[in-house]
Amino acid sequence: MSEPQSIQWFPGHMTKTKRQIEKTLKLVDAVAEIVDARIPISSRNPVLHKLIQGKPRVILLNKADMADPQQTARWIAYYKEKNIPAIAVDCRSGKGMNQFIPTVRSVLKDRIAAWEKKGMVGRTIRVMVVGIPNVGKSSMINRLAKGSKAVVEDRPGVTRENRWFSITKDFELLDTPGVLWPKFEDKLVGEHLAFTGAVKDAVVDVEHLACRLIEVLRELYPSALVSRYKLEDCDLQAMESYEILEQIGRNRGMLISGGEINTERAAIAVLDEFRGAKLGRITLEQVKS
Ligand code: G4P
Repeated sequence: MSEPQSIQWFPGHMTKTKRQIEKTLKLVDAVAEIVDARIPISSRNPVLHKLIQGKPRVILLNKADMADPQQTARWIAYYKEKNIPAIAVDCRSGKGMNQFIPTVRSVLKDRIAAWEKKGMVGRTIRVMVVGIPNVGKSSMINRLAKGSKAVVEDRPGVTRENRWFSITKDFELLDTPGVLWPKFEDKLVGEHLAFTGAVKDAVVDVEHLACRLIEVLRELYPSALVSRYKLEDCDLQAMESYEILEQIGRNRGMLISGGEINTERAAIAVLDEFRGAKLGRITLEQVKS
């Protein structure tokens, strides 16, 4: 079993996207940042915070259907303390999405009041949707825009790169201009993204990855690991993660000729089942108390 080559094959530079975002920020009133509720830290772009400083912001903890609800509630409280409204959503089913527009309006309430004072009642609210690849941006926009086409009118800011979507008569979304990469150079971040499938397995060693996931689950959700893989008779803390992987393969009858355990198949099963939330709702990055 070899160490994964490296999880840093994506372009390190963000210069183009940074410029695009800086330019486009002037056209929006607020930013909706989508993160993966299971890994709210690793699924953020490392420079975004600086880029959007000063812009009203709403955080969407997406894929909340797969995250630990207690932990999601703690993340919401964490952001609330920082004065950033965060909402738990499942963009695939639409659960929680009804809070989105009211939350944006509440974050902009002073501005909306100021517009109304100037006679701009019903002024269109424009929001830029940002997030790393695979976090659920398209799902979110599709759900809200309900199949309506991108706005193609001739007005400043509507360009080939800037795709605007009309949600209601006075609410528009802008898809991220460019690609916001996560912080791949951080090994832990890379692992989290690989666990959740945001990074494809073709570029990582699945057995190594599954062993790392087993180590993390053993620490955070040992009972989920035990009950899913019938490990009741094992002393997980005393075992190497590879031994646990072997036991999982043995319990599942994953054998190759000669009776040897097919650890690669076992590794793929662990990763797939984690990604499919078969081990239950799990949050890998938790608020430090
Ligand atoms: P992106 O635009 O940010 O790149 O992400 P996209 O919406 O394409 O979503 C990436 C994957 O995550 C999709 O799965 C999508 O269905 C899934 N997804 C998005 N939001 C949620 C959510 O809240 N909960 C769950 N469980 N999944 C979500 P896929 O396997 O790539 O495609 P498909 O199976 O939906 O066809």
